[in-house]
Formats: sequence, C-alpha cells, structure tokens
Amino acid sequence: MIYTAILGHGTVGSGVAEILINRKRHVSEKAHDDLEVKYILELRDFSHLTYAEKFTKDFEKIVNDRDVKIVAEVMGGLNPAYDFVKRCLLAGKSVVTSNKELVAAKGAELLSIAAKNNVNFLFEASVGGGIPILRPMAQCLAANDINRVTGILNGTTNYILNKMIVDSMDFDTALSLAKEKGFAEKDPTADIEGHDACRKICILASLAFGKHVYPDQVKTEGISNVTLDDVAYAEKFNCAIKLIAMAKKLPNGKISADVCPRLVSHDNILSNVDGVFNAIVVRGDATGDVMFYGKGAGKMPTASAVVADTIDCAKHLHARKYFDWQEGEKDYVTDDGLRKRFYVLIKSHDFERLLTDFGKAFPENTWNIKNEFAGEIAFITDEIYENELKAKLETLKCDSIKTMNTLF
Ligand code: HSE
Repeated sequence: MIYTAILGHGTVGSGVAEILINRKRHVSEKAHDDLEVKYILELRDFSHLTYAEKFTKDFEKIVNDRDVKIVAEVMGGLNPAYDFVKRCLLAGKSVVTSNKELVAAKGAELLSIAAKNNVNFLFEASVGGGIPILRPMAQCLAANDINRVTGILNGTTNYILNKMIVDSMDFDTALSLAKEKGFAEKDPTADIEGHDACRKICILASLAFGKHVYPDQVKTEGISNVTLDDVAYAEKFNCAIKLIAMAKKLPNGKISADVCPRLVSHDNILSNVDGVFNAIVVRGDATGDVMFYGKGAGKMPTASAVVADTIDCAKHLHARKYFDWQEGEKDYVTDDGLRKRFYVLIKSHDFERLLTDFGKAFPENTWNIKNEFAGEIAFITDEIYENELKAKLETLKCDSIKTMNTLF
C-alpha cells in the first residue's frame, strides 16, 4: 500500500481526488501497488462528499505522517504552495504538481532539493494540461539539440481569440464563457495579460535548454489590446491572431524568449489550433519540428496529468526520474536581434496625408489594406529591425499606431 495526499480540492484537485478514489482499482493496477488517498488538505467544507473523512485543514498532519509517500500539490499560487512542497520534499516525500507559477519561479531549487532527498518532483500538468510534453521532451527527444520551442500555451486566451474570430464575439462575453467552463485562472488577469503562458514557456525553456528561465526575464504582452478590427484584418492577410510563446537558443549560448499576440499565417499549423486546445512545436536538430496537441486546460485533462505523475512516482519510489536544470543567470535571456515581419495598423483623420506619408516611409510595401472609410491602413512589413520600424513609424503623422509580431 502506498499512501498519498492531495493539497487542494479546487477545480484540478477535485478531479485528481475523483480519479484516485473513484478509479482506485485502475490506478492501482497501473501503479503495480495499492494507491490510497489518506488526506486531502482543504480549508473549505466538503462534508457532503463520500470521501469527506479524508479532509483535513492541518498540513502538519500530512508532512509528519511518514506513511505518506507521494503528495499532489494542486493549490496553485506561490504561497503557501512553495513552503508546503519544499517541506514535503525535505521530509522524503515525492511531490507532483500542476502549479506552473511555482515551477516557473522555483523549479531549479525544488528539483535540487528533490535530488538531494532522493525523491521525485514531477510537474507534467504544469504545461499544456493533459498534453504529454515535458516527459517526451526530456526523454523521447533527448538525442536532440533543441533549438526552438513555440506554443499556444493558454487555453483561455485561445478560446477568447477563437470566439472573436469565428463568432465575432466581444472580449468580455468570451471571457465569461471561459470562466464558466473552468479554463480561466482564479484571477483571469494571469491568462489575459500573458503571465500564465509566460510561466509555461519558462518551464519549457528551462527544461529544453538546461538553465532556469525566470518569468521576469521574458518579455510578455497579453491579448487585451487585440480588437475585432485586428482580427478581421488578420483574416484578410490570411492569418489568425494567436497568443504565441516562443523560446529560441541563440548562437552565443543565450536564449531569447517572449510571449505576445502574433498574426499567424494559415500556412502555419499553429493557426489551426482553436478553442481551449494548446499546441507546442519543439524543433530538434535530428527530428525537425515535432508537435504536441491537446486540451491545455480544464479539470479532467489537467487531473489526468497529475495522476499520471502520481503513478510514475509510485512506480519509482526508490528511483530518481530524469528532470533537472541549473539555476538561471542574470543575462541569460536576451533579444534575438533578428529582423522580423510586423503587422502595423495606422489611423488618421487626414487620410490623404496618411497615404502620402505611408508611401514615403514604406515605398516598397505591397501587402497592405487601405480603408479610406475608417481612415486606416493595415500592412505587413518585409523583414525589418524593430528599431528601424519604429523610426519609420515616427515619420508618419497619424492619430494611432499599433504593431504586432507575426509568425509565418
Ligand atoms: N488558465 C489556464 C489556461 C489553465 O487557460 O490555459 C491551464 O494552465
């Protein structure tokens, strides 16, 4: 018999409890041992549930119980999760978690504590919900030098953008629907402003390139400035707007990483990833691009990954797994310094003047849409340095300028 504990009984935690308790026989068969949930740590009242006797409000009871060998942390947030996870690892318990905020901030430290205490710290559910990505990347692609990871890593924003594109639904209605469906974070600002995707690309980049990438090193922009007009122009340019997270290895050994909305060409497979689905494209030197696709959020997809990690820990109670990376460095993450193609939308009440200025600043540009009625010109640039673009845009006399990255 192997005893486990679950820290938290929210959206994901209740899914984990349901699988571990209601499907105990199946899970135990997979683990080659009886897996028994001994405690569920939760402050709220769940006395109506059939497994109500497992609930406790006292973390000390769990950490001091030597019979508990595996702890699933599904509380989310940094505090008190960080303290609880650290103490469980120090007490010789393996820990599995879906908590991307924790792993993105403290992954290197917690992996090192796990290694010193000869236990496992696994977090497959922290990126891509139910999609197997971390284990395949670390294990199945181990022969590769990975040089780029690109992904749609947030189900809520992808769902919202898709609703805007397909149903012309406004932002707030789409967000309310995402909340109802249980995709969004408790505070959806983390989804909308790109912080959730940022945490996930930090974990992917740390694992892919071997050194911790911290969230404050990643330039992050969310989708709150994306309008229905942008979405419509994007369609005319044969693109879809997606919140894309990207991390690249640079020739100097450093990496570049960012999260931002991009116009993604319909020729790129990521443009077809819709709704709550996530996709991650890993570029290895031997394999080329490998894509991982599936439900990136929601109770049961995420719980599936947490339980799989729990089973893995049960099967390897006395063996270490393969995840590790080193602590990061201050200047490790930098700009890639490359020329890129941008989407630009310029607007002026003096459309004639705008046309003239645009012609002077971008004489070669042929990929544009001139909308006299709205006083707007939308265009896609040729490859250009960001500073060079900025300088050109400063020569225009216009009321507003918006730029967005692209992915062709
Ligand atoms: N809020 C997240 C999302 C949940 O929408 O993708 C999964 O991390």
